[in-house]
Amino acid sequence: MTPSPLGRCLLISASDTDAGKTVITAALALLLSQVGVMKLIQAGTGDREYYQQVLSLQQTPAELNPLAFAAPLAPPLAAQREGRRIDLACAWQHLTQLRQRYAQVLVEGAGGLGAPVTWEWTVADLAAQWQLPTVLVIPVRLGAIGQAVAHVALARQVGVPLRGLVLNEREPLTPEQRRDWAPVGLMQQLTGVPVLAQFPYVEDITDPACLRQAGLQAELTNLTPAGWQNPA
Ligand SMILES: Nc1ncnc2c1ncn2[C@@H]1O[C@H](COP(=O)(O)OP(=O)(O)OP(=O)(O)O)[C@@H](O)[C@H]1O
Ligand SMILES: [Mg+2]
Repeated sequence: MTPSPLGRCLLISASDTDAGKTVITAALALLLSQVGVMKLIQAGTGDREYYQQVLSLQQTPAELNPLAFAAPLAPPLAAQREGRRIDLACAWQHLTQLRQRYAQVLVEGAGGLGAPVTWEWTVADLAAQWQLPTVLVIPVRLGAIGQAVAHVALARQVGVPLRGLVLNEREPLTPEQRRDWAPVGLMQQLTGVPVLAQFPYVEDITDPACLRQAGLQAELTNLTPAGWQNPA
């Protein structure tokens, strides 16, 4: 089969804002070669600056983050404050450019899968319309099972090409907490999708070596389909 001239994309979405999308996207990028990274829409500051700090990216600011707004609000509201609209055609154009330049492109979504990207579309709608293979980051805490079930149901309802879940430890956990709050077998059974990785707590998320080590430990390259895995 002739390989596609366009790089492959993976959308990193989540059950909520602050779930760990940026940390996990950076850790995965550090394990891949020929990789582009895109924060589709940034409302407020943080992610773009973090990627620039921990990854050696050869991308223009617009390729890294095509849509940026000052207010840390849901994107359509943040855009409205500035009298602007969310130009998804512009984001698509930058994504297409990145896909032409890189073998693989990691796209970080905004907020959770149900977060609005425009007045009409949620992140889930965008993933379905653009047919972006998607993974869902679920923070390990009490309630994680229900969060996973609800978000997988949303993905199914809208037609998101969902690859599976990534369980993320945003704080140091005991083996008992891990087992009781995010039991892998039960989550897979209830959602019908695989847990692709269990990402550990990272002591220093600004240290690329720590991130890379955590990514290796979690076998984060399992998030990408076979054939993508192109170790850096
Ligand atoms: N595995 C981890 N180890 C240590 N700290 C973590 C981990 N995951 C997340 N965190 C902490 O949680 C914060 C939020 O994570 P992150 O910025 O990756 O979330 P996000 O889903 O990208 O949020 P947003 O919706 O704002 O983009 C991080 O700044 C970090 O302090
Ligand atoms: Mg983020």
